[in-house]
Amino acid sequence: LAPAIRLARDGFPVDGVFIRLAKSRLEAIRTYAATANVFLVNNEVPAAGSVLKQPDLANTLAAIALKGRDGFYKGFIGAQMVDEVRRAGGLWATDDLFNYAVKVREPLTAMYRGYRIVSAPPPSSGGVALIEILNILATYELPRLDEATRTHVIVEAMRRAYRDRAEFLGDPDFTQVPLERLMHPWYAAGLRATLRLDRATSSSELPGVESPPQGPHTTHYSILDKEGNRVAATVTLNFPFGSGFLVPGTGVVLNNEMDDFSVKPGVPNGFGLIGGDANAIAAGKRPLSSMAPSFIEAPDGNVAILGTPGGSRIISMVLLAALDFMDGHTPDSWVTKGRFHHQYLPDIVQYEENGLPGLVIAGLRQRGHRLEQTTFRYGNMQAILWDRKHNRVLAAADPRGIGSAQVILHAAKNTPSKANPKPTAQQRKQ
Ligand code: DON
Repeated sequence: LAPAIRLARDGFPVDGVFIRLAKSRLEAIRTYAATANVFLVNNEVPAAGSVLKQPDLANTLAAIALKGRDGFYKGFIGAQMVDEVRRAGGLWATDDLFNYAVKVREPLTAMYRGYRIVSAPPPSSGGVALIEILNILATYELPRLDEATRTHVIVEAMRRAYRDRAEFLGDPDFTQVPLERLMHPWYAAGLRATLRLDRATSSSELPGVESPPQGPHTTHYSILDKEGNRVAATVTLNFPFGSGFLVPGTGVVLNNEMDDFSVKPGVPNGFGLIGGDANAIAAGKRPLSSMAPSFIEAPDGNVAILGTPGGSRIISMVLLAALDFMDGHTPDSWVTKGRFHHQYLPDIVQYEENGLPGLVIAGLRQRGHRLEQTTFRYGNMQAILWDRKHNRVLAAADPRGIGSAQVILHAAKNTPSKANPKPTAQQRKQ
């Protein structure tokens, strides 16, 4: 935790990304004086280059470094969090916090055309949806299809998997998630049979999600060490600055993960996702996620380690990167390539500026798809290729973010990857 403590205590220079995110959440930040005191200067977003320090957070991190889990959930910090959340009208009880425990779960695994996929299990929908999409795609010769048809097929697979996400996915401790069925190749074959190459399926033609209305911030990192141990980790606060509520005296900003529950059947969350009973709010239940930290192991032994923030779009981003890897491209291409997305509802193919060539847009429109260019570029993918065939490691950080990727050959020698020739000042210091 030392680097994190140092960054909190000594501060970091505010950059353009911070300014953009703080502006997007200004109202939430201003709602709470303790949050505004840390992240704003005179109640305004600080100027680029000014140093932002978080001394309370440094103390909290130091308590965790010293006492581990108990340093956070017990003692002063735990008591302070419960008191302050209750003072602000929240419903926390001391036991909720003290009894909270991380659950270690087995990742999901599946095979796609000789590639082994290892990804996040429920309560994330990331792995299930990724595997379901790949299963639907498995019998198409994607590289041989013209790009419009290929994009159409991928969009249709996304549509079907995101529909299932809305109906079936939730905390497996509360909801029976039919994992085996959703990840079974025969199930995918059934879905594929409803897919036509010449026209878009309307999301309304798919079975509606059960339980009719009755009465982004996230970080991903990928690591590979010299022994071949790997980490793909995504952590989320949901929106930038979480709920905007900073617990006074602790420096800890609380997330707004409640948005990842289906607040009311059929009502979209902050990312436009809908859900039903499977992901309804209940005491002690964990919200559904789209996080999809993944390993993709190729038949030739090569391994991709990847993941990204991006709310509902995480699954489609990881999918597109996985397909790009399977097409023989390297991480700089996975993280850079323009992105498109379909999440069942709204029934729209979203794409980034330059995400789809004109011909593909025309080909999709011709099939009856509705398309919409996003007003922003999304995602912040961090990716590694362990190219065992050529005994090399390539890494790349998404140019949409401020991260950078490094391949460290020897303890004393840093070789930044080609995609990011210049490590940031921050990283050089570390
Ligand atoms: O777990 C999820 O699916 C969301 N909380 C992720 C939100 C997110 O990625 C926002 N970041 N851009």
